[in-house]
Order: sequence, then structure tokens, then C-alpha cells
Amino acid sequence: MKILVVGGGGREHAIVMKLSESPKVDKLYCTPGNGGISKYAQCFDVKATDIDGVVALSKEISVDMVVVAPDDPLVMGMVDALNKEGIRAFGPDSSAAIIEGSKVFSKDLMKLYNIPTAGYEVFDDPKAAMEYIKEKNTYPTVIKADGLALGKGVIIAQNEKEAEDAVKTIMEDKIFGESGSSIVIEEFLTGPEVSVLCFTDGRVVAPMISSMDHKRALDNDEGLNTGGMGTVAPNPHYTYDVAEECMKTIFMPTINAMNNEHRTFKGCLYFGLMITPQGPRVIEYNCRFGDPETQVVLPLLETDLVDIFNAVIDEKLDSIDIKWKDGAAACVIIASGGYPKKYETSKEISGLDEKGQHEGVIVYHAGTKTEGDKFLTSGGRVLGVTATAPDLKTALEKAYSGVNGISFEKMHYRKDIGKKALNI
Ligand code: AMP
Ligand code: GLY
Repeated sequence: MKILVVGGGGREHAIVMKLSESPKVDKLYCTPGNGGISKYAQCFDVKATDIDGVVALSKEISVDMVVVAPDDPLVMGMVDALNKEGIRAFGPDSSAAIIEGSKVFSKDLMKLYNIPTAGYEVFDDPKAAMEYIKEKNTYPTVIKADGLALGKGVIIAQNEKEAEDAVKTIMEDKIFGESGSSIVIEEFLTGPEVSVLCFTDGRVVAPMISSMDHKRALDNDEGLNTGGMGTVAPNPHYTYDVAEECMKTIFMPTINAMNNEHRTFKGCLYFGLMITPQGPRVIEYNCRFGDPETQVVLPLLETDLVDIFNAVIDEKLDSIDIKWKDGAAACVIIASGGYPKKYETSKEISGLDEKGQHEGVIVYHAGTKTEGDKFLTSGGRVLGVTATAPDLKTALEKAYSGVNGISFEKMHYRKDIGKKALNI
């Protein structure tokens, strides 16, 4: 098979590398890809959001399957456009991707189908939002932009002033653009967070190994929110009992709700959960693989990923038994100094071999480019250094030992990835 992966970050590198293990794959393509991905797949310079460009490219290189990985092309309807041309694609169509594309949609869905989540109200008028906040007078309070905002559309306000500023910056200053035309104000929940990515063909839901993200830029969960600074899998908070409850009260009800709304979801559905004292609650849905969750989940997958993608597309997920490896995985993100704020790029990276790899670990490239035989930085998150081992402690030691062998000017990484998971 010839497969094209759309996207160009660490998640896409992890998908490409997993696909490259399949005996069914003859040729891998990626667009736009990055420096590291180019060592495993032929890359093109068509942007991940260029729907017409990706359709044209898929025809030109006559691929057998396209895997659409990022949220924006999914929400914009890339899978719909590919299917219209008779091209097989893994990922939800736009009618189902709205589960991530609109927080108002997903909150209303959960309310309608009794899927446990934080209590909320929706506003499209900043004045009404402020009146509600003043009247309610409970803090912290959570304020979310309706649409996609690069994982940054959530503000946790500790007092009235912060809430007022949040409403103003989202709705009036429009820092997230039209994504902020409506907002959701919701109840602040507490408890450990768990990411559960699931394969689903719209009938069967097959949860992958659970994982734990580290969203803040600095150690001890300090600093700004980022796309994710590291992950571990499995997540020790996701016990057998919690998993059973999630399947019963969250996963199946969500799949059924989407079918009932004539928005059948096929692809990878990501459940961002909080395990509150009252039980698991949905914090967010994503219509795609998580980044950097994928970088710890896929290395533990034993079953051929091509078979799974085919089963999802053909609605035959019940025909395969998805197997996972025992043990644990850890991924430490190496970012450019300054990320998620301003940072410099084009720094030469040392410690990588000709394939962009490093001994003892898997190096997923997120923001790199090649120049001759060198790798240079080209983004905020640069590399995801992943290791697997029989236990989490060893996986973390291996991952950090890999990180210590890699360097570039002003690189930054968290030193405490997985620390909380080890102490449970
Ligand atoms: P989201 O983009 O919806 O995942 O939100 C980003 C982060 O904000 C989550 O990972 C949580 O840490 C936090 N968060 C979101 N919603 C809530 C909530 N209702 N209560 C507490 N924390 C929340
Ligand atoms: N790591 C969080 C996300 O992919 O949304």
C-alpha cells in the first residue's frame, strides 16, 4: 500500500514510524512532514490545511489511503473532500469532527445525552457573560473559547478581575479570532487528568493504552500552558474500575450520541478526562490523535496499524483484536528556549545520527528541518524523546539519558516528566 500522512509534527512522525513497521506498506508519504519525518517518508510542501492541495497530491501519487492527523483539516472537511473523490481516508468527516471544533456543540451533546462533564453555560454576548460571572461569584471559574485555539483557548480565572479580562480578551479583543465569538463558562473540577485515545468505527470503541500529558511549560506544573511538554503511558490513575466506568458512562454513550445525531464518528476519538472525587468527567473531546500522547501510545501497539486503520474505515473494528505490549513508555519534549512564547529557530541540533535518531530511544521530530546532513530547529516543540521499558521508572531514565545526549542552543525541557505518575 501507498499511504499519505497529513501533518508535520511529532504525532505524525510517530504515525509514520509505526506504519513503516507494517509489511503491508510499500511507500510512505507525508505532507508537509519535517526534517525527521523525511528520513521515513517522502515529504511534500503542501500545507496540512490545504484541502484542494492534499486531494490533488493524493491523486497525483495515487495513494491507497490518507491519514489526516491534525484537528484543523479534519474540522474543515478534508476527509469529506477525499471521500468525495473516492480516496480512502482515516479520520472523521467534518460533521463528526465538530465534537472538537465546537465546545458549545460538545457541551450541549453531553448535556443532552447525560454524559458526565462540568456544569456550564454558553454566552455569545460579553455583557451577559460578565453579569453571570458576577452573580455566580465562585472561583476558580473556567472560561473557554468555542472554537479551535491551538490548545490555548482555556482560561482558569481565580477572581472576578481575571474572569473579566478573560471574557474581554476572548470575546472583544478576539485573541483566538472567530473561535471566541461564543464562550463556555464552566464549573472548575479537580482531580488527576487522563488522556484516553480510542479507535472507533462508529459502532465499536477500542480504547488505546491510557496516558498522562504535562501541559505546563515548567517543572511542578508551573508556567504557561503549552501543546504538551511530555507524556507517560499507561496512566496509573486509569485503573481497571475507572476504565470500566468510562466505557459505560462516557465512551459508548458518546459513540451512540454521535450516531443518534447523524454524525457517526470514525477515526481516533480522544477523551480528555478528569477523575474527580465524584467519578470520571469529560474535560474535552479531540477528533484526532493527541500530541504528544501518540508518541507514548503507538510505541506500545503490537497490532499492525494498517489493519486497524482499514478496519475503522470499513467499519469492521469488531473483527480485530488489538494487542498492546506490556510495560511503559515515556516521552520528554525538547522545546526551543522561550516556547510557548517567542523563540528562535534554525539552531543546529547535535547528538542525532543520519536518520535523526539517537541510541536507546526513539526521537520523534516535531519542529526540525534538514540542511545538507544537519538537522536544524524549526519550531517551538522540536523533538520528543521516547523510551519504552518494562516499567515507567526505567522508561523515564532511558528517555532522560537520550535527552542528555542531544543538544542545541537555548534548548528547554521539563525535568519532572512522569514524576507524579511514579508516586502513585
Ligand atoms: P482543554 O483545552 O479543554 O483540555 O483544557 C486545557 C486544560 O485546562 C485541561 O487540561 C485542564 O487542565 C484545564 N481545564 C479545562 N477545563 C477544566 C475544568 N472544568 N476544571 C478544571 N480544569 C479544567
Ligand atoms: N496533548 C493534548 C492534545 O493533543 O490536545
